[in-house]
Amino acid sequence: MLSPIYRRKIRGLVALILFCFSLPGYAEKFPGIADTPQMGWNSWNHFGCNIDEQIIRDMADAMVESGMKAAGYEYINIDDCWHGERDEQGFIQPHAAHFPSGMKALADYVHGKGLKLGIYSDAGATTCAGRPGSRGHEYQDALTYARWGIDYVKYDWCDTDNINPEGAYTTMRDAIHAAGRPMVLSICEWGDNQPWEWAREIGHSWRTTGDIYPCWNCELGHGSWSSWGVLPILDKQAGLRQYAGPGHWNDMDMLEVGNGMTVQEDIAHFSIWAMLASPLIAGNDLRTMSRQTRDILTNEAVIAVNQDGLGIQAMKFIDEGDFEIWVKPLAEGDWAFMFLNRADSETRYRYDWKAHRVEDDISDHALDFGSEAYAWRALWTEARGDTRSPLALEVPAHGVRLLRLTAL
Ligand code: GLA
Repeated sequence: MLSPIYRRKIRGLVALILFCFSLPGYAEKFPGIADTPQMGWNSWNHFGCNIDEQIIRDMADAMVESGMKAAGYEYINIDDCWHGERDEQGFIQPHAAHFPSGMKALADYVHGKGLKLGIYSDAGATTCAGRPGSRGHEYQDALTYARWGIDYVKYDWCDTDNINPEGAYTTMRDAIHAAGRPMVLSICEWGDNQPWEWAREIGHSWRTTGDIYPCWNCELGHGSWSSWGVLPILDKQAGLRQYAGPGHWNDMDMLEVGNGMTVQEDIAHFSIWAMLASPLIAGNDLRTMSRQTRDILTNEAVIAVNQDGLGIQAMKFIDEGDFEIWVKPLAEGDWAFMFLNRADSETRYRYDWKAHRVEDDISDHALDFGSEAYAWRALWTEARGDTRSPLALEVPAHGVRLLRLTAL
C-alpha cells in the first residue's frame, strides 16, 4: 500500500506528463491534407498588392467555369496585402476598403463554390510588402484564420533577422494545431535555411528558391535579392528530390503559365512542375486567360503525373547540357519521361530505349527496356508508340516532349 504522500507524488507526475503532451510543442501538422501536391491559384504573380474581395470571388467563379476545379484545382489563395490593422486586442483585420465584407463572408463564398480559401502571413513583424506580420501574434492569427474558415496558410520570411526558422515555423504549425482547423501550412522561406532538412513534420511544402519570374532562363536582380526564370529554378532543385513525398513537397513557387512566356515555355514550365511534384498554384488572371493557357493548366494527363499517388519527384536521368531527360516512377508500374530542350533552337534527338537502363536508388525503382517493353503516349500531342523501336524526337526551342509509359 503506497502512502498518501507517494500517491500524491505519482498523481502529480502523471498530471505533469499529460500536461507536457498537451503542450503545443507536441502538436503535429494536420495529416492527410497534402498527400499529393497542393493545387490552386494565388493572387501574387499577377496582381501583386492590387487585390480586393471582388477579384478573389471572380477567381473562384473562373476556377469553376474554366474547368480548373474539375481538373483538380482546389485552393484560392490570397497573398500579401489583404491586411488592415490589428484591433485594440491585437486581432488582425482585413483591409476595410478592399475587403469590406470581411474574410468570413469571402470564405463562405469560396466554400459555396466547392473550393477552399488560403491566406498569407509572415513570420516577422511585417510581411514582404510591409503589412502586419504574425510575429508575437501566431496563436491569435491562427485562431482568427480558423474562425474565418481559412484552409491554407502561406507563411513568408521577410523581416526575420535573428529569428530561428525552424522555431518560427514550428510555432505557426502549433498555433494552427491549437486553433483546431485543418489548414495547409505552406512554408515560404525561399530555401535560405535548407527547410527540406527540418520542415518535414512542420509544413506541407516549402519553397526551395527565391521568387519566380515569367521568363525562361533569366535572373532579375532587385538589389539584395533576385527573381528567377524557369530554368534557374529547375537547376536549384539539384539534390532535393529525396526530401519530397506525400505531405511534404518541394515547392518551386507559383506558376507563371499565362503570364507572358511563349506557349512552348508555358508547356515546358508546367511539365517541369508536374514532373518534380511541385504544388501547382496558378498565378495568372483566370478571368481573361486564353484558351491555350486554360488548356495547359487543365491538361489532365499532365496533372495526373503531378498528382500521382506514389509522390516520387522526378530525377534527372540524362544531362547533355542543353538537352535533359527526366524520369518519374508512377503508380502501377507506369513511368513519365520528359525530354527537355533548354536551347534557343529546335533540336532533333534519337533515343534508343534499350540502350539505357534506368535506376532510381532513392525510390528503389528500375527500368530495363531490354527485358520489358512499354507503350508510350505523348501527353501534349496525340502521338503514341512503344519502346521496342527507338524514339525520333523533335523538341521545340525552350520546349519539352512528355511521355507516359505503360508496360505492354
Ligand atoms: C515574397 C514571397 C512571394 C510573395 C511576396 C509578397 O517575396 O516569396 O511569393 O508572397 O513575398 O510580398
